Amino acid sequence: MMLHKDVKSVLLSQEKLENIVKSLAKQIEKDYNDKEFIVVGLLKGSVVFMADLIKQINLDFSIDFIVASSYGSGTESSGKVRIVSDLTLPVQGKDVLIVEDIVDSGNTLNFVMNYLMTRGANDVRVCTLCDKPSRRKVPMTPEYCGTQIPDEFIVGYGLDYNEKYRNLPYIGILKRSVYE
Ligand code: IMP
Ligand code: MG
Repeated sequence: MMLHKDVKSVLLSQEKLENIVKSLAKQIEKDYNDKEFIVVGLLKGSVVFMADLIKQINLDFSIDFIVASSYGSGTESSGKVRIVSDLTLPVQGKDVLIVEDIVDSGNTLNFVMNYLMTRGANDVRVCTLCDKPSRRKVPMTPEYCGTQIPDEFIVGYGLDYNEKYRNLPYIGILKRSVYE
């Protein structure tokens, strides 16, 4: 496989990602077996992960999306989160499983979880592919976490830098020279 010229090294290979997704799906299947639930993806970062994840969850559920924004064009969260595009389905009384690409400061998920609770969701949990716990600014513990990663800026498999690299089939560490 050819490594993208802006990527320093591969952190999670396609094979590793496949295994992570399968293991998360298995846990979710077990826990949501008897539940009426909606899987809500946070666009755009979750889209590749979510597409793979839902195919492995052998249950009945609906899906929806929210666009929340906290990042400008840099590599740091602004801390100010807003809903840019809202749900299309009602979540009143439903169990909601949020799918996210990565938890960093925790600001985005903290905001979105509260938002879904105010919309009347019965239960809100988070399934994230990656977690950078060392960067947390507000408390946020994802129920389902694919893998914890060191404090590096990563791209690929949905994750971007300046809207680029989302299509890479692996997750790689972005060269510092690209953003410094
Ligand atoms: P938080 O609100 O600081 O937790 O930021 C979460 C969002 O920041 C994620 O949904 C990503 O879009 C973005 N983000 C955080 N770390 C990275 C990274 O290493 N690569 C790409 N995007 C990231
Ligand atoms: Mg995101």
